Amino acid sequence: MQAKNVAENRPLSSLDDWEDDLLRRYPEPTTAANASFRNYDAEAKPGVSEFYRLNHQFQTLEFVKSKREQYLSLSKRRMSIWEAMEYLNTLVDDSDPDIDLPQIEHLLQTAEAIRQAGRPRWYILTGLIHDLGKILCLWDEPQWAVVGDTFPVGCRYSEKIVFYDAFQANEDFRNQRYQSELGIYEAGCGLDQVMMSWGHDEYLYHVVKDYLPLPGLYMIRYHSCYPIHREREYQALLNDRDREMFAWVNDFNQYDLYTKRDERMNVASLRPFYEELIAEYFPSELCW
Ligand SMILES: [Fe+2]
Ligand SMILES: [Fe+2]
Repeated sequence: MQAKNVAENRPLSSLDDWEDDLLRRYPEPTTAANASFRNYDAEAKPGVSEFYRLNHQFQTLEFVKSKREQYLSLSKRRMSIWEAMEYLNTLVDDSDPDIDLPQIEHLLQTAEAIRQAGRPRWYILTGLIHDLGKILCLWDEPQWAVVGDTFPVGCRYSEKIVFYDAFQANEDFRNQRYQSELGIYEAGCGLDQVMMSWGHDEYLYHVVKDYLPLPGLYMIRYHSCYPIHREREYQALLNDRDREMFAWVNDFNQYDLYTKRDERMNVASLRPFYEELIAEYFPSELCW
């Protein structure tokens, strides 16, 4: 069953509200007050808690399968990476425009931070494109099926997932097979075999999987998977390649989460550098 009405589809006033809430849960190490226990779920904004209530209720194995069926043939449209960035930028949130930067600027801030840190060119490019999967919102997908922490479906929900209690309304929560530790998977099968809750990470991975080095693909596919890259849950499903690659996912997280600044990016002046970088790795058009 899927939530139908508009209010249910858009509990967040802006997609950025989810990322702002991540910052609250995972503050930058230098600014973190103290590490004592806090009840993060109780302190969330009402829109954020409503968002997770819907996400946890509706992200079932069946739902994920249906979205993979719908989108992974990549037959929605053809466009270049830069066109996709501009397309994503047409996403208008309800939030105060003085506070939230256009989506393209989060991408450029992330990429520029990676560039300034002297990281490889494919890494900079990964930062530039990592959130392009959010264009799912422009095809009327509800926010809870685009953003939010991701987690494996078809096996037990980790109690460390934010708003864990909301899983009680999820059909799979009462399915004993799906709620065993490994669920439908085998020990050490590797995350490539594991279906994750549906959102912008998995979708974009399929769009770009032929073009970037493996660490970049892991960053794109799992950057919202806080239960694994931050909380270290689901270790029984991982294989050696996952363990090696998650070091990259963790490294990437600092640039995704801690580079948000209010200062505007000069998109026009940065564009030539990034167009050249895009052309180094991607064809002029991709299937979305
Ligand atoms: Fe993201
Ligand atoms: Fe991001």
